Amino acid sequence: MILPDCLSAIFLTALFAGQGVAIELDITDERSIKNAAATAAYNMMSNYHGNESGQVPGKLPDTWWEGGAMFMTLIQYWFWTGDASYNEVTAQGMLWQKGRDDYFPANYSNYLGNDDQVFWGLAAITAAELNFPEKSGEPSWLSLAQGVFNTQVPRWDTSSCDGGLRWQIWPYQAGYTTKNAISNGGLFQLAARLGRYTKNQTYIDWAEKIWDWSATTPLLKTADWNIADTTTTEANCQDHGDLQWTYNYGTYLSGAGYMYNLTDGGEKWKKAIDGLLGTTVAKFFPEKYGGDIMSEISCEPNMMCDRNQDCFKGFLSSWLTFITTVAPYTREQIIPKILASAQAAAKQCSGGDSRTDCGRRWYQQDKWDGSKSLESDMSALSVFSSSMITHKKAHQAPLTAETGGTSKSNPSAGSDHKEQQPDQPKPITTGDRAGASIMTFFFACGWIASVSWLVYGG
Ligand SMILES: *[C@@H]1O[C@H](CO)[C@@H](O)[C@H](O)[C@H]1NC(C)=O
Ligand SMILES: *[C@@H]1O[C@H](CO)[C@@H](O)[C@H](O)[C@H]1NC(C)=O
Ligand SMILES: *[C@@H]1O[C@H](CO)[C@@H](O)[C@H](O)[C@H]1NC(C)=O
Ligand SMILES: *[C@@H]1O[C@H](CO)[C@@H](O)[C@H](O)[C@H]1NC(C)=O
Repeated sequence: MILPDCLSAIFLTALFAGQGVAIELDITDERSIKNAAATAAYNMMSNYHGNESGQVPGKLPDTWWEGGAMFMTLIQYWFWTGDASYNEVTAQGMLWQKGRDDYFPANYSNYLGNDDQVFWGLAAITAAELNFPEKSGEPSWLSLAQGVFNTQVPRWDTSSCDGGLRWQIWPYQAGYTTKNAISNGGLFQLAARLGRYTKNQTYIDWAEKIWDWSATTPLLKTADWNIADTTTTEANCQDHGDLQWTYNYGTYLSGAGYMYNLTDGGEKWKKAIDGLLGTTVAKFFPEKYGGDIMSEISCEPNMMCDRNQDCFKGFLSSWLTFITTVAPYTREQIIPKILASAQAAAKQCSGGDSRTDCGRRWYQQDKWDGSKSLESDMSALSVFSSSMITHKKAHQAPLTAETGGTSKSNPSAGSDHKEQQPDQPKPITTGDRAGASIMTFFFACGWIASVSWLVYGG
């Protein structure tokens, strides 16, 4: 049914689209939401060729991490709308890229960051929590998420800053001396979700530990609930790269939501949700656009978002939406913002030949902003799917092993994969130190030039 729906949505849009009329979306009408989401999914997937012959399943051109993000978005799309059209292609890509059950495939592992890997882990735990169909003879979704956890935890680095995950994994990578919010927030969120799903105390303890460590650095300033993007080992993690990004707030906020739920409303986590939700709303739903429409404020005004950044609003959309299911007291604050953002995004999806390609500035609704990308389609898809929250009544909350989640646990997945850990730091010789500072100099200049304190695409 969905393909005809989807085609008819495109057809109708083409028919009725005067200049700037876009994806039709009536958020009071379940069918309309499903049509809008199906159109965005179709447009997004027209950029994906990994399932065609001679191509690599799960791999998008010039980026590895975005594949995980895309499948996570498609799993959520299936969950909210019931459209299984992309389930096969999702399972195929998720399993092809699994590496040794740890999302560290040899083709890309020489230049991955912890944040790249964790997005695939988050896709896998999402599949587990939503009972996304498993493939027989293949590792379970839960075990793949555990494999990511088990390979990241040994990278916890106490040689500087008293802890924290580095951004990049290997010493020769630019960004090795950076510890960033998305890597640490990503593992925090993954640990919290594994903890809630399995009730295994190891995950819960790690989530606490990562949160508490983050709060000793500018990556999580609990005094004013501000999240810096980066900090560096050179400054003992007290300096701060302050670009403000939706997904950094989203990842810590989401993890806090799961911790709140598994501690049955624990005070620490209630404070965390309230604090981070407060700054998230104040920053990323600017009053000047009405206060309810999400904006990637650090790059939208000058249209300088890169492909990574165009994905971020989608993550914040889905993470905020799921928080309302594990911390239901947040519903009234969050849901109107998801619905308003979805409506705004639909109006912005009026580009390209189809007049349904999505631009990035959801707040700019009078005309298409001229940009289009798989990433903007992905963000729009995420906020459309999320707006099903007011219609899908049964089974909204992520499942756990106790509440019907059927994905099988393998707590030792990914253990002892020693080839994935950087060597212990060797004593620094004068020659090394000179070399290192030259490298740092080049890297720092490169960063400033490209304004990319960002996820490194694999
Ligand atoms: C690849 O997946 C798309 C769905 O995104 C599907 O329409 C297409 O038929 C698939 N192609 C192959 C060769 O399986
Ligand atoms: C690794 O690269 C080879 C050669 O291009 C390809 O056939 C294979 O599918 C790739 N594997 C993954 C997991 O991307
Ligand atoms: C935890 O999540 C469940 C849904 O799985 C919800 O019913 C319950 O109210 C949540 N707990 C708290 C303390 O909000
Ligand atoms: C809990 O997780 C830890 C770490 O992965 C593992 O060693 C342990 O076996 C797990 N315990 C159970 C009961 O699954």
